[in-house]
Amino acid sequence: MKEWTREERYRDLKKEDLPELKTLHDQVRQSRWRCDYHVQTVTGLMGDTNGFSWFNGRWHLFYQWFAYGAVHGLKGWYHTSSPDLLHWKNEGSAIAASLPYDNKGVFSGSGYAEGDILYLPYTGNHRDENWVRTPYQMLAYMTKDGVIHKQEEPLYGPVDGYTEHQRDPKMFYRKEDGYYYFMIGVQNTDKKGKFLLMRSKEIRRGWEVAGELKIRGYDDFGFMVECPDLERVGDDWLLLFSPQGLEPQGDEFHNIYNNTYFIGKMDFENLEFIPNGPFRELDRGFDFYAAQCAGQNVYPDKAVMTAWFGVSDYTYPPTAEEGYSGLQTMARILTIENGELRQRPCEAAQELKGHKALHKESSDFELEGEMPASSVIDVIPSGKSFNLDLYRSEKHSGFTVSYDADTCYLTIDKSALENQINTDYGTERKVRLEKGLKEMQIFADHSSIEIFVNDGEYVLSSRIFPNASECFFEAKGEGMEAVVYRAEKTVEDDFVIFPEQAGK
Ligand code: FRU
Repeated sequence: MKEWTREERYRDLKKEDLPELKTLHDQVRQSRWRCDYHVQTVTGLMGDTNGFSWFNGRWHLFYQWFAYGAVHGLKGWYHTSSPDLLHWKNEGSAIAASLPYDNKGVFSGSGYAEGDILYLPYTGNHRDENWVRTPYQMLAYMTKDGVIHKQEEPLYGPVDGYTEHQRDPKMFYRKEDGYYYFMIGVQNTDKKGKFLLMRSKEIRRGWEVAGELKIRGYDDFGFMVECPDLERVGDDWLLLFSPQGLEPQGDEFHNIYNNTYFIGKMDFENLEFIPNGPFRELDRGFDFYAAQCAGQNVYPDKAVMTAWFGVSDYTYPPTAEEGYSGLQTMARILTIENGELRQRPCEAAQELKGHKALHKESSDFELEGEMPASSVIDVIPSGKSFNLDLYRSEKHSGFTVSYDADTCYLTIDKSALENQINTDYGTERKVRLEKGLKEMQIFADHSSIEIFVNDGEYVLSSRIFPNASECFFEAKGEGMEAVVYRAEKTVEDDFVIFPEQAGK
């Protein structure tokens, strides 16, 4: 793999580089791991979900982006949009480094729409000539014509009492006290990850430190909290965040960094979150991080969420060698039902089901055949144990999904696939289903697998990179039923680097 110098990684995005980026995109388009219905990086590296929102009659989803290769370099935001959370259009570079405050990166942030404006608070990653970092909380905003402007002065500079790690503002408005808030993840001087709330009566100015958000009964979230998000979902509050440095606990927190959540009540007077359930991992697969809920009012008692289908400090060599890396998960609708989180695929996802590629039901069940590289698989178990084998070859098994009816364990195992990634963190994940397995829907898309279990009780998201010979499906299980549908293509792989190319 190519070694990147700092100079190469911190190249500004320039119009004169379009021919170079076109060549890169032409190469990327050929990749067997390009997806049909996931938002994927146009070129280079994609990271966190940013600025996710409903504005001006469309969904807007931005992502952390470095255009020139699959390395963490000078980050900006790339913009995509959709009418239905399933058909996505590339809109081009949205926010690029241009101010002294964001000279070494436009880091993550959120989307908050009010009136005719979509506010896009983000973190400016400033570094001086000695490479010393200072974080600034900044504001960009999009007007209805789709043009994005930057406010030149920060909303807030570095907050005393914390290290250089202060970032990822998630903005919201609280009508009870008339304050706008944003929450950032911070590291205190004892190197502990914390949540910090800022507030103001106006979006563009007047910000002050409201204080640290305490979590009742919990104090240790590792050395840094990234991408925190506080959402009202029905009568409950959901606190999502990506802590770094957690130890595995039982079947949870086995990835290098994990995306986690609490459900509870929010006490704004005392800045305290009061969980009414355990500390949980948001997604139980191998690759999931930096989830963000949309600023939206389309689903008033629900949240709409996507995440980076990857994890910081993991590498994805199969596509990185082809000049790209990174994907966003499918959009999910989140509800809290009887105190429990449910994550279901966005409604439009059911439209993905094209013709039936494979289907069988019988008491002595065995189904095998060629698997469309992009497919939706409905599984109706019989209460007995079963085994599914996705992207297997004629010689060996692929990504296996098995259910043990005696222990009620659902296990995914990627160890048999030819291209192995990030194996230091294990090749198996397990979920114990207290009430057994009732149904399962699997979304597979060339290089990704999302498994929705028991109507959104759990989701397991994993990246895989099957070779050409790894193209078969097999299911074995007494009395079960499985239907494999070929999935439709809903995301075009069009070459748009600058908004003008998208017709703006
Ligand atoms: C999370 C993160 C954020 C930061 C961004 C930089 O993956 O480290 O905290 O804003 O990525 O790309």
